[in-house]
Amino acid sequence: MSGIHHMLVHFPLGFWTLATLMILIGALLPGRMAEISRVALLPVLILSLLAALVAITTGLMVWPLEASTASPLVRNHILTALWSLGVFTMLTVLVWRAGSSAFDGASRWVLVILALIGISIFATTGTIGGHLVGATTQFSELLKLFGWDVYHTFFVPTWVIVVMVLIGIACAVLGLMGRRTAS
Ligand code: HEM
Repeated sequence: MSGIHHMLVHFPLGFWTLATLMILIGALLPGRMAEISRVALLPVLILSLLAALVAITTGLMVWPLEASTASPLVRNHILTALWSLGVFTMLTVLVWRAGSSAFDGASRWVLVILALIGISIFATTGTIGGHLVGATTQFSELLKLFGWDVYHTFFVPTWVIVVMVLIGIACAVLGLMGRRTAS
């Protein structure tokens, strides 16, 4: 399954990179290219999610689960793969629900910020994958500068999780209030 995983991971990485590029072009540039990017974004995002599910499934089959979860490097790889999936699922739902108004006004910045967060996380997933097969890159040196060595299990203090949950609740409340005001 190792060879299959190596081959299939190129699909989510390719689609996520393309989707990020399309969001940047759709949000920041005028003209025909931007129009095409906005219209074609949803199918690309849907394909990226399907490809990610296949990559994650094959990844979980490379080594026995006990072996994978015993290694901090693989734990980090799984974590960032699932985060990437989470961010791009959010983007897909937003673009799907908003339809043609997804890029209107300030909404475009939500897409841009999420896409930039997503690209940093999936770049980390690929980088850790490289470490797993002995092909390291300078990107992990950059992560080290931010205080994280990919060989150590990623750790988030409990207070950060509490703050994140509170921000999530605040966003949901603001969204519901905005919806009521609009209707
Ligand atoms: C979107 C999800 C994922 C992406 C983009 C991804 C990406 C990668 C990449 C780029 C490599 C290096 C392959 C190469 O250089 O040819 C790799 C290796 C690896 N990945 Fe993933 N991966 C994903 C999910 C997972 C998951 C969920 C697991 C679960 C344990 C996993 C386990 C592994 C293992 C064990 C290796 C090393 C394989 C070996 O030793 O031959 N991957 N991955």
